[in-house]
Amino acid sequence: MNPRSVVRQALERVESGFDAAFGARLNPLYQLGALGWFFYWIVAVSGLYLYVFFDTGIERAYASVEYMTHEQWYAAGVMRSLHRYASDALVVVVLLHLAREFVLDRYRGARWFPWFVGTPILWLIYASGISGYWVVWDKLAQYVAVATAEWLDALPIFGEPIARNFLHESVLSGRFFTLMVFIHIAVPLILLLVMWIHISRHTHARSNPPKALAIGSLAALVVLALAYPAVSQGPANLNEVPAVVSLDWFYLPLYPLFDRYSGLALWGLVGGVTLLLALLPWLPPKRVSAAATVHLDNCNGCGRCEADCPYSAITMVLRTDGAPFSQQAQVDDGRCVRCGICTGACPTATPYRRRSELVAGIELPQLSMQSLRDGTVAAVEKLRGDTKVIVYACDSAAARGLENDHTAVVNVPCVGHLPPALLDFTLTRRHADGVLLAGCRRGDCAFRLGIDWTEQRLAGLRDPYLRKRVPRERIHCVWAGFDGRAVLLREAAAFTERLRSLGSFKPGERGPAGAPAGTMVEN
Ligand code: HEM
Ligand code: SF4
Ligand code: SF4
Repeated sequence: MNPRSVVRQALERVESGFDAAFGARLNPLYQLGALGWFFYWIVAVSGLYLYVFFDTGIERAYASVEYMTHEQWYAAGVMRSLHRYASDALVVVVLLHLAREFVLDRYRGARWFPWFVGTPILWLIYASGISGYWVVWDKLAQYVAVATAEWLDALPIFGEPIARNFLHESVLSGRFFTLMVFIHIAVPLILLLVMWIHISRHTHARSNPPKALAIGSLAALVVLALAYPAVSQGPANLNEVPAVVSLDWFYLPLYPLFDRYSGLALWGLVGGVTLLLALLPWLPPKRVSAAATVHLDNCNGCGRCEADCPYSAITMVLRTDGAPFSQQAQVDDGRCVRCGICTGACPTATPYRRRSELVAGIELPQLSMQSLRDGTVAAVEKLRGDTKVIVYACDSAAARGLENDHTAVVNVPCVGHLPPALLDFTLTRRHADGVLLAGCRRGDCAFRLGIDWTEQRLAGLRDPYLRKRVPRERIHCVWAGFDGRAVLLREAAAFTERLRSLGSFKPGERGPAGAPAGTMVEN
């Protein structure tokens, strides 16, 4: 196993622990991006409230913050603490989010875009947080402002050294201080714009955490705000150097280094890390197969593939081949992550077709519908057991070695790649007695929407849906992921037992009344 797989397995173990504690739907580790948005909004709303009472003039800034903190501790004081702690929480979830996308290898190939845009996001978050410490104008603000100005002065970009503004009380102008306050408002607004660009290529991006998680996170921040109110560290005084200040380690971890290393050396360090981070998707570049391809002869322009593609890689454009449809699908190769979810959505991906060659309106060239159907038939033909189970396993499921006398495995990039008609064909044509879908863990589909769309198609809630004639108790879904081997083995064995008791498929067979669309099991 390569080092990334080892770390991935360890990560999934930790996440399984969180699944047990919170349930998969509320697992915060699956919602880090959404929590980032949530904490951003808390910071924005609390910041707006504080701005009402904040005096942007240098003489009154400190006093106005003190007034909020002590005279209005129940309102502005709590808001100030919320503003501080939600900012800290934002850093924590974003760093975890970044690390997680890296470990799960979800940042290369066509996914370079959100990663690349994420790099300036980090700068903007830090710039927002650091400038926030200036505006309080206490001793910490003085320390941070002077150190930042000296650091900026190490670069030959400003004609006049900025640090000069902090030489003495009499030198710091109200105008310069107002500029500092303005930066603290402008940078978060730019951050919002870049956050929006960051998820602009995701359809149905998770930018809101589930309600219970949002309420729980907000409650935790309020408790923290009440238990440890954010306070200032005495008024700034440019006539003396602050002796001791306590730092916010989430935003200011580099500041102690300013005393030890030159400004230029630190620019080299920070610039080098930024460059490395931004270029990581190409170090090394991901080897990718061909993108999804549209076959116009079979495309009726229905737009389902566009609706289901999780990465906005499909657009409907004017018809070019003279066929009697107004539109046709068009794939942007650079955005396509090769998940195949579009094939699963296409109504022409039906294995029942009588024509010799089975070609769907949209397909992955490396796994055409024809090869998927033929592969399914060939795999089950080799089975010798009395009860035959076909397992369709995505690349993130631990299905290696699951094969035995009565179980065959067919690999697909994502369970969403499977058109419901293929499951129908496999069961009603009696190629297999049961179909097991093995995928990622719920809430963490490697291609974001594969599990959701599959469940909705099976339940008849999303086109194309599984026909009613298919007995639901012969379909079993196991969302156990890369580390879920034990669960998958256990579930496959139990499913085979259940199928054995059902006997072989009889046309017209129906599951128990109200039976769900396939049984779902989560790790
Ligand atoms: C304010 C900071 C950030 C917020 C609020 C945020 C939020 C999000 C959200 C909501 C998604 C979509 C998740 C989904 O719907 O599946 C996402 C995806 C992603 N983010 Fe961020 N993000 C932030 C910073 C970053 C940073 C700093 C990086 C890395 C440098 C990063 C890397 C990624 C990647 C690679 C994806 C795509 C994952 C995939 O394709 O499945 N993000 N982010
Ligand atoms: S789902 Fe199939 S038929 Fe419909 S637009 Fe896409 S490729 Fe064409
Ligand atoms: S394979 Fe299809 S659904 Fe997946 S990203 Fe490419 S075009 Fe979109």
